[in-house]
Amino acid sequence: MPPRSAGSGKLPRDPVHHPLFARRYARLSKAAETRFGMAGIRARMLTGLSGRVIEIGAGNGLNFSHYPGTVSEVVAIEPERLLRQLAVEAALRSEVPVDVVPGAAEALPVKSEAFDAVVISLVLCSVRDVPRALAEVRRVLRPGGVVRFFEHGEGGGRAMHFTQRALDRTVWPALNGGCHVARDPIGALRDAGFELGPYRRVSIPERGPKLPTSYCVLGTAWRPARTDR
Ligand SMILES: C[S@@+](CC[C@H](N)C(=O)[O-])C[C@H]1O[C@@H](n2cnc3c(N)ncnc32)[C@H](O)[C@@H]1O
Repeated sequence: MPPRSAGSGKLPRDPVHHPLFARRYARLSKAAETRFGMAGIRARMLTGLSGRVIEIGAGNGLNFSHYPGTVSEVVAIEPERLLRQLAVEAALRSEVPVDVVPGAAEALPVKSEAFDAVVISLVLCSVRDVPRALAEVRRVLRPGGVVRFFEHGEGGGRAMHFTQRALDRTVWPALNGGCHVARDPIGALRDAGFELGPYRRVSIPERGPKLPTSYCVLGTAWRPARTDR
């Protein structure tokens, strides 16, 4: 029998519940793989990874087919029910073992220092509490472990900054599954105590007029090996 919330007679609500966004994302994200070169970006983000990996906010599992054979296991955390179902289907097709697990970035349901790498792609824009989510990333990563990220955030000139901030304060998060367009993923990683490795700015789409979501960063960060804060 499925678990019920005490007394209400209803199923407990998922920590993230965006069914309309989930359906739209499942469709658009697949098209973006070829149209916006996202498949190539995912492959670059994951190249050279090895050992145990935790992917946070795995969505419909579009990263899974890009993990190299040197990865022994992926634990894929996804809080949204529909996306999680699609991730389970993608996991069945994956060459590396992927275990899809419900949960949220702010309270990861795994042990401390259990992973060699953490993967976050297009997720820091959507989590409710970025410092708390990154503190969790740090907790679950072994000292010296790596974060691979692909995130969008603030960018462009003054007009674009103004537009991004206005969107974040008004319609954008409600229409896009809690996404924000004016966050600063690099600053957030630094503030959380990660050492920034190589990263580069990427525009999606690469050519043509910029969108509020165009300003992306693709790269690597490390949990410092010895000095724990
Ligand atoms: C734009 S989608 C990106 C999905 C996937 N990472 C990708 O690269 O296609 C954002 C994802 O973050 C998830 N998400 C939102 N809030 C979250 C949270 N608090 N913890 C973990 N994941 C979250 C959403 O359910 C969704 O799967």
